[in-house]
Amino acid sequence: RIPEPLALVVFGATGDLMRRKLMPALWRLKQEGMLPDDFAIVGNAREATDDADFRERMRGALAEFAKEPDAAEWEAFSHRLRFVGGSTDDPSTFVQLAKVLGEVDKECGTRGNRLFYLALPPSVVAQTAEGLGRAGLVCHPEDRCYTRIIVEKPFGRDLDSAKALNASLLKVFAEPQIFRIDHYLGKETLQNLLVFRFANTIWEPLWQRNYVDHVQITVSETVGVESRAGYYDRSGALRDMIQSHLLQILTLVAMEPPASYDADSIRNEKVKVLQAIPLLQGEDIDRYAVRGQYAASEESSASEKDGEKGASMPAYRDEKDVPEGSRTETFAALRLLVDNWRWAGVPFYLRTGKRLPAKQSEVVIRFRPAPHPVRDQVQDDTPAPNALVLHIQPDEGISLFFEAKVPGIRGPLRPVSMDFKYTSAFEGAESPEAYQRLLLDAMLGDATLFARRDEVEAAWTLITPILQAWEAGGEPDPYPANSWGPECATELLAREGRSWHEPTG
Ligand code: BG6
Repeated sequence: RIPEPLALVVFGATGDLMRRKLMPALWRLKQEGMLPDDFAIVGNAREATDDADFRERMRGALAEFAKEPDAAEWEAFSHRLRFVGGSTDDPSTFVQLAKVLGEVDKECGTRGNRLFYLALPPSVVAQTAEGLGRAGLVCHPEDRCYTRIIVEKPFGRDLDSAKALNASLLKVFAEPQIFRIDHYLGKETLQNLLVFRFANTIWEPLWQRNYVDHVQITVSETVGVESRAGYYDRSGALRDMIQSHLLQILTLVAMEPPASYDADSIRNEKVKVLQAIPLLQGEDIDRYAVRGQYAASEESSASEKDGEKGASMPAYRDEKDVPEGSRTETFAALRLLVDNWRWAGVPFYLRTGKRLPAKQSEVVIRFRPAPHPVRDQVQDDTPAPNALVLHIQPDEGISLFFEAKVPGIRGPLRPVSMDFKYTSAFEGAESPEAYQRLLLDAMLGDATLFARRDEVEAAWTLITPILQAWEAGGEPDPYPANSWGPECATELLAREGRSWHEPTG
């Protein structure tokens, strides 16, 4: 399906997200014939620049992050790019924007349809939405044209600010017009999670407390804070990753089959999962929530980009723009329960961090151990419990670990795996980039992969008491850069007789 004609207006259009992700995604959509012919991009940023400079920057972004566009193709496309300078707290910016959009409708045939993309810090989202409303740039759902707005994460800083942000957006837009983006939901493997669970009959009977011992969700990164300390130091791993990406993954793992696959049916089931998670409070926060911060390491970084061999890695507190003595966590781990019929008593362990030894996102479903020893089993040769590992990235795929006997008269048991890999199963097929899929869905008005108001607020409800407890005092536990986090993250599982799955990458 090709979207209807539209103008995409990007606020923050000279920023990193536009250069690295949005422009390359739009260009790929165009090349794959998925953009309407009548299409335009209008960029806005505070800095003063003009159409020609904006076009040149976007061509540069494609050369750097996608592919140098063919000159003739770019020539034909680039006149559809316009720029409107000015701050979003200045009403004249919106007056100018309305004027340019009027011109674009005439020149590019975009028929008054608009998709606003707010690649902006949360502090200016509300004023931007209000500015759009005041300038008459928002169509009503009953109008013949449509208006939608995409809001980037972080969606607020805690429950109160998220509620306030929702309230401000809802003064101007109706909920079906609001698309709260979480790029993890655009990843191919997370899309496949629902198909894996609900298009196959063999997993569903096992997907519950009688068979599952616990679930682990790991999203690890090798990079440090890089040049983002200004944002990251005010955020930390719990806000930056767990509130959004990891809780989204958890809901997809734990949700009930929806009655139908429309956006609201799926999101209803996801919200129910979040609402079934008991809040961590008081002493439980010390017991079940772990925070860490990377310390220096003599080793070189595991990240390919940074780290000349032999270069040591600095501590988080010594990184550029990180305030002295910062208490921001660069690692967080939680043990949560989902208190419903399916999952009662099954812990969900979540962990994420920067400067860990591998860039890897995976879900591990660890099944209960076999109840009775195998007849020939060598003494002390306890079978490892079965595990299903969903590799979200890299090496996208799914592995099922089970026990086998090593060949021989009394060979011991050894875990082996059956592996499905996207690259070999679908040779030649390329997964679209998350932003490519999400932009297209927003243009088509499909909100399935976007967070709804109650979903975002339910996630903040879980996270806010932990944030408040951490902000009130204490320090994150240091861990050496290039290690799997602080010792207490290991203990979180060890005291329940469990251990983290060793990532396979
Ligand atoms: C972003 C976070 O949402 O996700 C970053 O703000 C993080 O801190 C990034 O690095 C990770 O995304 P991905 O797709 O590289 O796993």
